[in-house]
Order: sequence, then C-alpha cells, then structure tokens
Amino acid sequence: MSRRAPEPTPQAGSGRVRLVVANWKLHHTHLEAIAFLERLWHLLDADDYRRAEIAICPAFTALRSAQLTIETDGMPYRLGAQDVFWEPSGAYTGEVSVPMLAKLDVRYVIVGHSERRRLFGETDEVVAKKAAAVASGGLVPIVCVGEVAEERDAGVTESVLERQLDAVLATYPAAALGELVIAYEPVWAIGSGTPATPEDAQQVARYVRGLVASRVGEAAASRVRVLYGGSVDVGNAVAFLAESDIDGLLVGGASLDPERFAQLLGARPRLAPTS
Ligand code: PGA
Repeated sequence: MSRRAPEPTPQAGSGRVRLVVANWKLHHTHLEAIAFLERLWHLLDADDYRRAEIAICPAFTALRSAQLTIETDGMPYRLGAQDVFWEPSGAYTGEVSVPMLAKLDVRYVIVGHSERRRLFGETDEVVAKKAAAVASGGLVPIVCVGEVAEERDAGVTESVLERQLDAVLATYPAAALGELVIAYEPVWAIGSGTPATPEDAQQVARYVRGLVASRVGEAAASRVRVLYGGSVDVGNAVAFLAESDIDGLLVGGASLDPERFAQLLGARPRLAPTS
C-alpha cells in the first residue's frame, strides 16, 4: 500500500533532526529484510515519522531488495550500509565502494564500528579514509567512537575519543562537516545489556560536540548529530533521546525484530512534540 509519511520535525532549540539507526550486523537475508520493512511500515504511524528520521542498515546482500521495497511503497526509511571501502573502483577483491552504494540510494554508511576496529583491525587512519570517501561521494558517514572497559576504568575515555575523532576531522571535507553523524558507542555497552546511563552518555555527547567545535567551529558543531549506541532498547530509548546533546540512537539487537524496533521508535511516554 502506498501512503505518504510526514517529514521528521527538527528539535526545538537545536534545530537538529533526530536519527534512529538500525544496525542489523550479520543478520537477515534479503527476504527477511523485505518482510521486516513491510511489517515496520504497517506498525508505525505518522507521529513516529515526525519524531525521527529512521535509517536501516542491512547487510550488503539485502540493500537492493530493501531499496526496491522502500521505493515501491514510498516508505520514509533511509538506507544505510554497515561498511565501505574508500577507493571508488579497482583491483580490491571483496570490497564495495561509495559510488556502488550511492546507486542503491544509500544515504548513510556506518564507519569504524567497534566490531570492525576490533575484529577486522581497522585503525583510526582506515576509519578516517572511509569517512572522507563517504562524504566526498555525497553520502553521510556515521562515525563510531567509544572506549573499551579498561579505558573507562582508567578514566581516559575523553582522550580515546579525541584520538578517534581527530583522525577523522583532520581529513574530512569541510563542506560536508555539518552533515556528519558521530555515534558514541562505549564498547563495553554494545550487546552487553548494560547501557551507559543517559547522564553519562549526555556528558560524553557534550564533550564530543565541544571537541568538534574546537576543531572546526561552532557552526558546524551545532549541526553535527551525535547518537548514542550500546544496549539501547524499548525501556531506555526515551531517556537517551531526552538528553540535549543526544540526537539519536544506533540500535543493534533491539532493531532486528520489527515489533520490538517499532515499540522502541514509538516508546511511551512519547516525547513532547518538537514544534
Ligand atoms: P546493541 O548494538 O544495540 O546490540 O548493543 C549496538 C551497536 O553495535 O551498534
């Protein structure tokens, strides 16, 4: 069924549009992706669409099917990829490029997720190259940063984030800075069932915005969206979104089932209308 969904409303005060991202990781075939999207479309209502932009990041193999499903039914969901290579083409067996993603109407690309840093050896330099390539290709990177438990315990969270972000900001195209999305994902909170407290996440999100302001200026920093990720679920989504520097959520486990993800997106009490 084709119907029109309203545009998300910018938040009063900040002017930023909230963004909630489903990171499916290594889950869902293309058939499961289609079924998920149809179900989510059935479950969400106009209020949900006003409150946040919704992005779905399936595996590469499901992008084409998801693109067609979204387009056919006029769904308001944005497509995202979970990774990318920085070269546009060439002898790089197994890789996928930004222009290839752009052809599939992909808008966002998750870059530097801690699983890629940890399991696939991605360094700050690799993450920076990917982020710059995404932005130069007209797409928007969701740059993931975050400390591991030992770093948190040692009290060095801020210097870890500074190192991770400085690498990206050093080579990031200036014209695209305002669109940049940064996801603060404490590594110890991912998939653990133990999220950061909203207060701690807010404090780090404010630090991130301040750091961006000190490197590239207040104007861009005030537009950059900072997400929180790590064991986000129905019961805590509202509390994170209520924080002034948290502009959205990066959701793993709780995004896999359409019922659960729809509940999270429509979590009660609903946030007050933003305009
Ligand atoms: P989680 O994953 O919500 O399952 O903790 C978040 C992420 O890794 O992006």
